[in-house]
Amino acid sequence: MTRRLRPDADGLAVAAELLRAGELVAFPTETVYGLGADALDAAAAGRIYAAKGRPADNPMIVHLADRAQLPLVTTDVTALARRLAARWWPGPLTLVLQAGPRVPRITTGGRSSVAVRVPDHPVAAAVLSTASVPVAAPSANRSGRPSPTSAEHVLADLDGRIAAVLDGGACPLGVESTVVDARGAQPVVLREGSVSREELGLPPSGCGVDGAALAASPGTRYRHYAPDCPVEVVAPELLLTRAAQAVAEGRQVAVVGPPGLGAPPAGVRILAEVRDPVELAQRLYQLLRDAEAARLGLLLVAEVPEVGVGRAVMDRLRRAAVGSAGHPGGGGG
Ligand code: TXA
Ligand code: MG
Repeated sequence: MTRRLRPDADGLAVAAELLRAGELVAFPTETVYGLGADALDAAAAGRIYAAKGRPADNPMIVHLADRAQLPLVTTDVTALARRLAARWWPGPLTLVLQAGPRVPRITTGGRSSVAVRVPDHPVAAAVLSTASVPVAAPSANRSGRPSPTSAEHVLADLDGRIAAVLDGGACPLGVESTVVDARGAQPVVLREGSVSREELGLPPSGCGVDGAALAASPGTRYRHYAPDCPVEVVAPELLLTRAAQAVAEGRQVAVVGPPGLGAPPAGVRILAEVRDPVELAQRLYQLLRDAEAARLGLLLVAEVPEVGVGRAVMDRLRRAAVGSAGHPGGGGG
């Protein structure tokens, strides 16, 4: 059985002690829940792959309490990394840097680089500083499933497979950190996330994650974020037409779209109305899990503009659609 810990002094002390003993502890961050283990302990880090069913070549993000811990995981803090860390840490930006000698290869999926970030969440900050070890933490879902944004999601996927989860309620941002390679002079986006290209000073019209980046960030290559329910992404103006069509095919349909959808066609349920990409980011993984729990025949989600966090949201939606029930796909992270 997995212990559910309150994020008070006792719960934090237990969580930190478990981490120091090489056990797996899930904890909230501002993006999604992470499944943590001591990043410098190869046996502990290896347990994460087993618990998640994660491919061993998919590297993990190392979480630090503070920028001052960077020398534990890298010996090469570039000028770009210093600038990005000063601007974004604590926060949802992950930097890929040259891995230092103390980082076991299992933590980095066999790579010579290491991904690192300082999360901006009081519970994450408290457990990281109490444990005072760098903590490797991928999202705390079974590989391929939607990322968890609550302790309930973590337990739904991992109960009995991990020592504990610190329950810090819902994650405020709801979509993962942006991963950038910071080894060069310019940031290269390896995974779209909560920090947008615009905020990084990059052209928003860029081609997104390109082929080279895909090879560089293996996690983006796997089936991902997929609920056990078919998902389709459609233009907002086609949402209700497509819904009516699917009902006519005999499927049980729900939609997520902008406010003011009006009366839906017979047999169509409005699962949620969301104002903007920020709200969709916050609610997305919960909605995917709700759709699954309702055993829908189809979840239809209206596209959002691909600016700001909208790019990351559309990336996750497309992956959910491709990987969802009835579509082919491998195992992911
Ligand atoms: O917001 C987040 O990033 C959450 C919270 C828990 O911090 N974590 C998260 O971890 O989403 P995960 O493992 O689900 O995704 C990490 C991504 C993957 O796409 C992985 O391939 C990439 O980061 N990554 C990790 N280390 C890397 C490295 N050394 N080089 C390139 N990509 C790396
Ligand atoms: Mg993940």
